[in-house]
Formats: sequence, C-alpha cells, structure tokens
Amino acid sequence: MNYHVPVLLQEIIDGLQVSEGKKYIDATFGGGGHGMEIVKAGGELLGIDVDPEALEHARRKIENGEWKIDKKKIALVQGNFRDIDTIAQDNGFYPVDGILFDLGVSGHQLDDRERGFSYKFADAPFDLRLNQEEGAPASEIINHENEEQLSAIIGTYGEEESCGRIAHALVNNRVKKPFRTTGDVLHSIQEVTGDRNTYKTASRVFQAFRIVVNDELSSLKKGLDGAESVLKPGGRIAVISFHSLEDRIVKQFFQRSGFKLVTKKPIRPTRMEQQENKRSRSAKLRIAEKI
Ligand SMILES: C[S@@+](CC[C@H](N)C(=O)[O-])C[C@H]1O[C@@H](n2cnc3c(N)ncnc32)[C@H](O)[C@@H]1O
Repeated sequence: MNYHVPVLLQEIIDGLQVSEGKKYIDATFGGGGHGMEIVKAGGELLGIDVDPEALEHARRKIENGEWKIDKKKIALVQGNFRDIDTIAQDNGFYPVDGILFDLGVSGHQLDDRERGFSYKFADAPFDLRLNQEEGAPASEIINHENEEQLSAIIGTYGEEESCGRIAHALVNNRVKKPFRTTGDVLHSIQEVTGDRNTYKTASRVFQAFRIVVNDELSSLKKGLDGAESVLKPGGRIAVISFHSLEDRIVKQFFQRSGFKLVTKKPIRPTRMEQQENKRSRSAKLRIAEKI
C-alpha cells in the first residue's frame, strides 16, 4: 500500500500560521500527513474524517507510538465536515485559530481495492462511498437512474463531453447484466472512447459518481459555512481542492463572506512536488483570514 504523501505541506503550516498552544481543526484528517505536522509545530488539533477506517488506522499509530506526539494534543472524531460547527463545539474546539480542508480521497483509500475509488482495479466493487457504513454504493445509481439522469450526473459532476453516449452505453449494458464492478463501468466507457483517452474519461466518470454518492459539493458548502462560525476573528482557513467544481465553490465562498484573501491566486505545487507526488498535480490551495 502506498504511503499518502501530504500535498503542499509546508505551505499549509506557514499559511495557517501554526504556532504553540493555538487550536486547529483538520477537517479531512485522512492519513494524518498535515494533522501530525500541525501537532509537531505546537498546535492542538481536532482531526475529523468521515471514513471510520482512516481514523482507526490513525488511532493505532498514536497508540503504538509510531507517531511520536503528545496524545493530549490531539482528538480524533469520526464525522462529516458539513457538521463541523457541532463537532467543534462538542469537542471543546470552539473557537479555533485555523481550519484545513484537504478535499477528495487519500492515497490509502485509492489503494484499497474494495472501496472502488480506482479504475486501476478492474474487478473491484464500484462503491465509491467515503463511509461504507452509510448510503448505497455507486453501482446502485447506475443500475437504477434513467439515462437522462445518468447523463446529467456525468456531464455536471464529471464535466465530461461524451456524457450522453456514456449514459446510453450504461443503460444498454445494465439490461444484459446489472453493474457491480469498476471493470463493468470501464467496459462501457471503452465502448464509447474506443482506446483513446479511456483513463482520462474514466477519471471524470468516477469523479462524477463519487461526488453524487457522497454528496460532496453540498457538504463542502455547508462545511465552509460552518468553518466560518468556528473560526476566531483573525483565524485562517486553508482549502486544497482537486477539481474546478470544488475550487469554484471555495473561491465564491471567500468572495462573498467575511474573509480577507491571503492568497489572491491559488497556490500550486512546485514542479518538483508535482514530479514527486502525482496526486498533487491538480491541487490548488486557497487561504483566507476571517475579518
Ligand atoms: C485527501 S485526503 C486527506 C489527506 C490528509 N490531509 C493527509 O495528509 O493525510 C481527504 C480525506 O478527507 C475525507 N473526507 C472527504 N470528504 C469528507 C467530509 N465531507 N467530511 C469529513 N471527511 C471527509 C476523506 O475520507 C479522506 O480521508
């Protein structure tokens, strides 16, 4: 399993002005790459993640001493960041000095074939849920929605031009055999793309279903609103996004709310970081300070 390499790590520590005794929330704790560094830099941290497996993993590392940190400085809570306001209040992190959102999925999730996040595993269940204890897998959407709705999902949330033709192939193929695996989906995509750009198209289609299954865009809007009320005046919020739909929400939120921009333009990983960590290539970091 690949280690999850945190994206724009130093930029986050500097941008959130992490310092001794201040309080922070990592709303997407994941593999703890950013969170641990915040604690090591002296911050007290509340780490939230919707994925119970990610937190289980982190708790084990803290218990067995793999992460050499003061346990009293970190609290981990399973939950959705759309409820950040309540989670922060319930855990004594209200108000805080800084909040991080590092959106999307982690390297651990991508590498876990049972989760279905990666089109590299052809025989994995097409699931895509960040929390498998809630809701239904993505295969159910493909098996039950009508062609028009499937096309709208792929076009709107995957920004994929061939959405209509892919939706048509999905509906045709599900009559022969209901969809179950990532391979079933890839096969339908390939019927449309031939051998050209199959993986590019697949990544857009997977993104579209992941957004819908996890209700990602509305969670992000609610999470940002909640974060504003949890932050102290002068506190900072940093968001790393990985596609234009997320980035637009963040940009518009900062424009219309009570924030002053710290980054006029989004910070992008250096060429060296992009070479060393492929996942960082599409990352954009925006930071703002509460007035
Ligand atoms: C890119 S990873 C974070 C990686 C982390 N910064 C690190 O360096 O290890 C994103 C994490 O956010 C979590 N996540 C995504 N949407 C969420 C939501 N609405 N609420 C809470 N956690 C969420 C995912 O489960 C995943 O673990």
